[in-house]
Amino acid sequence: MNETHQHIFIEGTNKKNVLILLHGTGGNEHDLINLGKHIDPTASLLGVRGNVLEGDMPRYFRRLAEGIFDEKDLFYRAEELHTFLKEALSHYAPNTDLVTVIGYSNGANIAATLLMKYEKIVDRAILFHAMVPYRNNTVKEIQNAHIFIGAGTNDPIIPQKETQELIDVLRVQGAKVQEKWYNNGHQLTMKEIQDARDWYSLIR
Ligand code: MLT
Repeated sequence: MNETHQHIFIEGTNKKNVLILLHGTGGNEHDLINLGKHIDPTASLLGVRGNVLEGDMPRYFRRLAEGIFDEKDLFYRAEELHTFLKEALSHYAPNTDLVTVIGYSNGANIAATLLMKYEKIVDRAILFHAMVPYRNNTVKEIQNAHIFIGAGTNDPIIPQKETQELIDVLRVQGAKVQEKWYNNGHQLTMKEIQDARDWYSLIR
């Protein structure tokens, strides 16, 4: 397989479930490992580092300013990540039948792009503090996908109406979206993680 992305794979005791873990700006492939273990202690975990650097901070795609994305780069990077994930899943976890992507912030935005642009690569998604990744391109149907969205009513980086618009787009395309709102700014809190875990264990 092509080693386009730095990554870590931890095999779980249940080889059927895989969690793909996508970090926020400045993070790396290790960042969400503990979170993944919390959501599903038995699943295999695939943490992937974004390929773009903003200063010394890894991201999954370039932005022109905070909240303003370089859409050309977004699509290029989404394609690259999509190819990597397909290869990594068949290499590390050929027998999986439940793939969940979990992303925080920039990682949630590239995960939303994968859902909106590509034929089904994941069955479930947990998007923490996500926004609308692009507006100037088509969004495919997202039938049979279950998505948990955790967001802040007072997130200074992701305005509430951005996440709301994303939820609307996903629902219009057929996704089943569970939304939860918190009052802790851009922070990912334990309460939000617990809610995601409860949702995950109910729909798996
Ligand atoms: C982004 O993708 O830029 C996020 O929405 C904000 C961040 O990750 O800093």
